[in-house]
This record gives sequence, structure tokens and C-alpha cells, in this order.
Amino acid sequence: MPSMSFQWARLAAVAVAVALALTLAGTAQAAGDAARGKQLGYTCLGCHGIENYKNVYPTYNVPKLAGQHVEYIVAALKSYRGKQRSHATMYAQASSLSDQDMEDVAAYLAGAVLPAGAPARGAAPQKVSELCSACHGANGVGITGDYPTLAGQHADYLARALVEYQKGDRKNPIMAQFAGQLSAADVKAIADYYAGQSPPLKTVERPSFK
Ligand code: HEC
Ligand code: HEC
Repeated sequence: MPSMSFQWARLAAVAVAVALALTLAGTAQAAGDAARGKQLGYTCLGCHGIENYKNVYPTYNVPKLAGQHVEYIVAALKSYRGKQRSHATMYAQASSLSDQDMEDVAAYLAGAVLPAGAPARGAAPQKVSELCSACHGANGVGITGDYPTLAGQHADYLARALVEYQKGDRKNPIMAQFAGQLSAADVKAIADYYAGQSPPLKTVERPSFK
């Protein structure tokens, strides 16, 4: 009799564990369905899936998205759609997506999000330690999903983004304040510094159709 109830207790414990695992898997999926995002994200790869693909007029590298925080990708898409960021192509792209589409496409494009905690490479410019690392990390990995990862991003893209915050073409009160404290020389040094950090963001891999 005692061994019988022991079996039942074990079974019950297993059932609880399985139910919990299913619930957790359920919540993770509710955030963004990467399989659905893969269908939606096909057009995005025409630019974001080609190594060193350039925006023209002006010329700069299209940002890398693989390894980026999913929450940040969604926020960035909403900013293009809401015109807090000015970019005609990305406005058109983001305007075609519902909020759920954005969650799904972000989950697909981000793929495996970069781990925090890697040591920084090289000496950080003083302003990075003073102004930037509290949110973007000394190694460029955003400390929460709301803060973009900058590690390994194209330096020319990072520099342009900073100038856009300075000019107000990107309207973000937090970044307006921090970018506003940088000289042109700071912008270049900081963009180069973060572009050289590791583990790096990468260009999204295009599925092969062979
Ligand atoms: C014609 C090329 C092109 C296509 C297609 C395109 N993008 Fe972009 N994307 C860009 C460029 C260029 C930028 C940088 C814009 C800027 O300077 O703000 C950008 C920026 C972004 C950003 C901001 C990244 C960051 O670090 O802030 C996200 C997110 C993004 N694109 C997602 C998408 C998604 C999702 C799609 C498909 C639905 C898509 N893009 C389609 C060219 C493209
Ligand atoms: C309090 C937190 C915080 C601090 C400090 C901060 N940032 Fe940011 N940063 C953000 C947030 C939030 C965004 C996203 C803004 C948006 O939606 O456009 C951002 C965006 C950026 C981007 C655009 C990334 C991309 O992929 O387009 C760059 C580049 C950047 N920050 C660099 C810096 C630098 C350099 C400093 C220091 C001078 C700094 N940030 C300080 C929070 C912060």
C-alpha cells in the first residue's frame, strides 16, 4: 500500500512538471511564431539577408538583425510605422505588418539572441563607460530586450543612427539626450568600438532552396 501511493505521488509530480513545461512553451510561442515569421520575412531578406547590402542615397550598410533582441526589433518596426523614424522603405515595409506579424517576423529574423556577459574587447572610449554601457553594455549586448544590441553591427549604420537621433530624424527622447552629448569624433570612435565587439550581430541567413 505505501509503495502504491508513492507511485501515485511520482506520477502526479511528473504530470505537474509536464503541464508546467507545456504552459511555459505556450507562453514562449505566444510572443512570436518564428515559423510564421519565416513566411512573412521572405521579402525582408532581399536586403537584410545579403551580406553588406547597402542603402543608397545616402550609402550605408543595411543593419544586421540576427542575434538582435526580439522586443527591440518589434519596437523599431513600430517606430518606422509611426514615423518616429524616417526611412521611406522601412516605413512601407512596417506599414504592411500587423502587431502580431511584427512579433512573428522579429522572432524569425532575430534567431538565437546573443548571450550577455562576454568581456568587452579593447579599451572602451570614456564616453561609453560614462553614458552608454548602462543600457547597451560595455560589450554592446543590450542589457534587456528593450535596449538594442550594438555588438558587431555595421559601424557606418551605428554612426548614422546616432546622427539621426541628434538631428531629430529619429525621435526617441532617451537617445536624443545621450546622442546629444557626442561630438562627431565621439560618434565615429563609439561606432567603431561597438562594431568591433563580440559575440557579434550577423546578417540573417537566407534559407537555401537547393
Ligand atoms: C529595400 C531594403 C529593405 C527591405 C526589403 C527591408 N529593410 Fe529593414 N531596413 C533597411 C534599411 C536601409 C534600414 C535602416 C534604416 C534606417 O537608417 O533607419 C532598415 C532597418 C530595419 C530595422 C531596424 C534595425 C535596427 O537596428 O534598428 C528593422 C527591425 C528592420 N529593418 C526590419 C525589416 C523587416 C521586418 C523587413 C521585412 C518586412 C524589412 N526590414 C525589409 C532596408 C530594408
Ligand atoms: C537609458 C538607456 C540608454 C542609454 C544610456 C543609451 N541608450 Fe542607446 N538606445 C536606447 C534605446 C531604448 C534605444 C532604441 C531607441 C529607438 O527606439 O530608436 C537605443 C538606440 C541606440 C542606437 C540605435 C541602434 C540601432 O540598431 O538602430 C544606437 C546606435 C545607440 N542607442 C547608441 C548609444 C550610445 C552611443 C550611447 C551613449 C552615448 C547610448 N546609446 C546610450 C537606450 C539607451
